[in-house]
Amino acid sequence: MRAVTWHGKKDVRVEEVPDPRIQEPTDAIVRMTTTNICGSDLHLYEPLAAFMTPGDIIGHEPMGIVEEVGGATGDLKVGDRVAIPFQMSCGHCWMCSAQLYTQCETTQVREQGTGAALFGYTKLYGQVPGAQAEYLRVPQAQFTHIKLPEGPPDDRFAYLSDILPTAWQAVEYAAVPDGGTVVVLGLGPVGDFACRIAMHKGYRVIGVDLVVDRLARVAARGVEVVDLEQHGDDLGDVIRDLTQGRGPDSVIDAVGMEAHGSPATKAVQKAAGLLPRFIAAPIQEVAGVDRLGALYSAIDIVRRGGTISLSGVYGGAADPMPMLTLFDKQIQLRMGQCNVKRWVDEIMPLLSDDDPLGVDDFATHRLPLEEAPEAYRAFQEKRDGYIKVQLKP
Ligand SMILES: NC(=O)c1ccc[n+]([C@@H]2O[C@H](COP(=O)([O-])OP(=O)(O)OC[C@H]3O[C@@H](n4cnc5c(N)ncnc54)[C@H](O)[C@@H]3O)[C@@H](O)[C@H]2O)c1
Ligand SMILES: [Zn+2]
Ligand SMILES: [Zn+2]
Repeated sequence: MRAVTWHGKKDVRVEEVPDPRIQEPTDAIVRMTTTNICGSDLHLYEPLAAFMTPGDIIGHEPMGIVEEVGGATGDLKVGDRVAIPFQMSCGHCWMCSAQLYTQCETTQVREQGTGAALFGYTKLYGQVPGAQAEYLRVPQAQFTHIKLPEGPPDDRFAYLSDILPTAWQAVEYAAVPDGGTVVVLGLGPVGDFACRIAMHKGYRVIGVDLVVDRLARVAARGVEVVDLEQHGDDLGDVIRDLTQGRGPDSVIDAVGMEAHGSPATKAVQKAAGLLPRFIAAPIQEVAGVDRLGALYSAIDIVRRGGTISLSGVYGGAADPMPMLTLFDKQIQLRMGQCNVKRWVDEIMPLLSDDDPLGVDDFATHRLPLEEAPEAYRAFQEKRDGYIKVQLKP
């Protein structure tokens, strides 16, 4: 089959690879009809390179049709239309019973000390072949699937594997009080959906980014926006001016480790990327690689006693944190990979024909798999209006 494979920093290719096969009775093989590129894939494209192996198949936003099942996949049948959560979870362990699916005890990557295995996401998360391919092997398929109705176009359900539940969890974890205000830092696909969900729930929403078309896109849906390009140095003051001098109840960080700003951490990250692989991985793991610009903004902006919800991915282990401010301001900090299936029942009713979240025209690009290398470049550089890219194998 054809698949998008990783070969080095800023080097992804589309290649011929062996077809996946059923290996366990709990496996299924799914033929991809839509498989998106995620902002998290950009971390593999550059900063997390030390945890990748040339030839790894990337991608973790799958949807398609079940082609083949093992003998123990429960109610999952050949021909079913499904979205596949980006994490593999068994559905019956202690963590899954607590709906903490990203901590599944059956798929946890114990040799790395990390949580549930993820599709196409580095040695840290099990080095499982990813979804930007014609076919995907789905382990723990008896639970790792979301059955979809026939009829509506792929666009309707294409974001259930990751970014829509991720944005939902970001808003839940933000614990915005009724009628309260939330600032969303980063208006990529995750931040954009977080704005839409927060608006839907009736909160006041202020979005921050530095990419003009991303600001315009959420502004068109009624979100107040602040351009970081104009307010890089006084963002906190501008937001406080908009919120009675106090700051918002909640801040969602939908940026993560590649934040614009903080040149010092950027230098460390770059140095680690240039080192030989066997040295770079421990340095990235131990020395902390994150650019913390967005997180520092969140800590500055949020009101005293407010909540910061992190959905942007961080990967460092020695990130300097302003503990005095966090403690003094009595800030609640909540974070983590999204427990996808935890939120699906709440989201599904909104994926209706009247499309309140605007999923039907959320994608800016729908491209053949073969065009993935150029799509990665354009999405990373945030040019040509690239916001959400679907690949069509
Ligand atoms: N927790 C999860 O389960 C989960 C799931 C999916 C994605 N993510 C993470 O969420 C983050 C966003 O994903 P995305 O697909 O929207 O990515 P993206 O890269 O398209 O979006 C990030 C946006 O942040 C903006 N930005 C950069 N620095 C900023 C700053 N200092 N202040 C405000 N905005 C800034 C960028 O211009 C960009 O528009 C990524 O870190 C991704 O890895 C997490
Ligand atoms: Zn993702
Ligand atoms: Zn489990």
